[in-house]
Amino acid sequence: MKIPEIQIPIIPIPLEKNITLFIKREDLIHPEISGNKFWKLFYNINHYLEKNPEKPFIITFGGAFSNHIAAVAALGKESGVSTLGIIRGEELHGRWQYNPTLKTAADNGMEFRFVTRQEYSDKNQLTENLQIEFPHALIIPEGGTNKNAVKGIQYLLNNETKSFDYLCTAVGTGGTVAGLSRFAEQHQKVLGFKVVIDQSLEKTVAELSGKNNFDLIDAQDGGYGKITDENIRFINEFYQNFGIELDPIYTGKMMRKIFELIEEDYFPEKSRILAFHTGGLQGIEGANEMLRKKNRALIQFGK
Ligand SMILES: Cc1ncc(COP(=O)(O)O)c(C=O)c1O
Repeated sequence: MKIPEIQIPIIPIPLEKNITLFIKREDLIHPEISGNKFWKLFYNINHYLEKNPEKPFIITFGGAFSNHIAAVAALGKESGVSTLGIIRGEELHGRWQYNPTLKTAADNGMEFRFVTRQEYSDKNQLTENLQIEFPHALIIPEGGTNKNAVKGIQYLLNNETKSFDYLCTAVGTGGTVAGLSRFAEQHQKVLGFKVVIDQSLEKTVAELSGKNNFDLIDAQDGGYGKITDENIRFINEFYQNFGIELDPIYTGKMMRKIFELIEEDYFPEKSRILAFHTGGLQGIEGANEMLRKKNRALIQFGK
């Protein structure tokens, strides 16, 4: 993977309070390897390919709508690397064509193995078995989070991001917030907005970051993968007001919580807040299909 030449825009979100909020559009870094995924995969893939494996092969894990699965499949196609996705939920076997994330991943050359939720929950065992079966494969953990991923997150930060007091990101497996924490300036506070229930996140992030300049804030809003009506309303209004698309699982939940915190005067006056748009927009099609089946309001941009 090469460092893209694109200059990532940092867009102001006008507020009525004496607080400055900007959003850094990391989602624009690549059409398919979007946002934080690009940088979490960057060192993982490059280190592996530098070893010149004869038949490069990447295996990773994810749920049916996983942004990480979508990103790895696209990267496989772009780099000429075979990919295998270990997908949570055996019920998807034979039905994955109806899931837009998996359909696109398959079009990008990814093969799948569908495993039960129980098998999936023991990823250490799964990984061990896969590494025996495919000794030369690179096995990337769920969400891509590991030490190399954290190292890649440094590219989210640059001269322009130095003037901000707060750096904000959505948190799933913790690699992104750990990277921001590790590479932040000394005066910066990092806020991670947790969209999952995972008691071990604080520990994981602290270990990967090596610093204590971060706070993790609950932004689950109904639980991981759950999409409330308020969430949909917020995302649609955010688009109407600022012309920026957010996803319902990560960036929408983060941004809504940031707005709530601003409303509650969590941030001191004159604070400068930078929120990272970490992508995830590929999941909207699948989310809308689910919402349509339940006769619920849809996520709609530009209509
Ligand atoms: C759009 C989006 N934002 C944020 C995250 C959270 O990143 P992490 O798993 O590093 O906490 C993810 C997961 O990779 C994601 O897909």
